[in-house]
Amino acid sequence: MENFEPNIIGFVCNWCTYAGADLAGSSRYSYPPNVKLIRLMCSGRVDPAFILETFARGADGVFVGGCHIPTDCHYQQGNFKALKRITMLKKLISDMGIEPERLEIFWISASEGKKFSEVMTSFTERIRELGPNPIRE
Ligand code: FES
Repeated sequence: MENFEPNIIGFVCNWCTYAGADLAGSSRYSYPPNVKLIRLMCSGRVDPAFILETFARGADGVFVGGCHIPTDCHYQQGNFKALKRITMLKKLISDMGIEPERLEIFWISASEGKKFSEVMTSFTERIRELGPNPIRE
């Protein structure tokens, strides 16, 4: 596992986490190239099937990124819906043999480029320590 480079997919809200990633880039806060982002309008748009399919296709780690705090969602309830889904999905993937630590939800605002960089770095390290997605094989 020495050369293992995790493949991490993030479903991120347009208004906050995506903008935070953009700010990280323009502020020159680097984050690992292992992280690939899929922009959605809101964390509440993330259907549980998206997460399961992403793991089924071999992602080693998956996260959802929403607005700064749950009550900051631009569509009011999106972050709460996302939190419920991630909590449920952690149990479900655990039953499927995937460590629940491979799935996470983060709240990162548009002004938190540095936080985006730090969170992505620590999440990538966590997934690197876990090793490849066990259902990949
Ligand atoms: Fe950002 Fe809903 S708009 S989490």
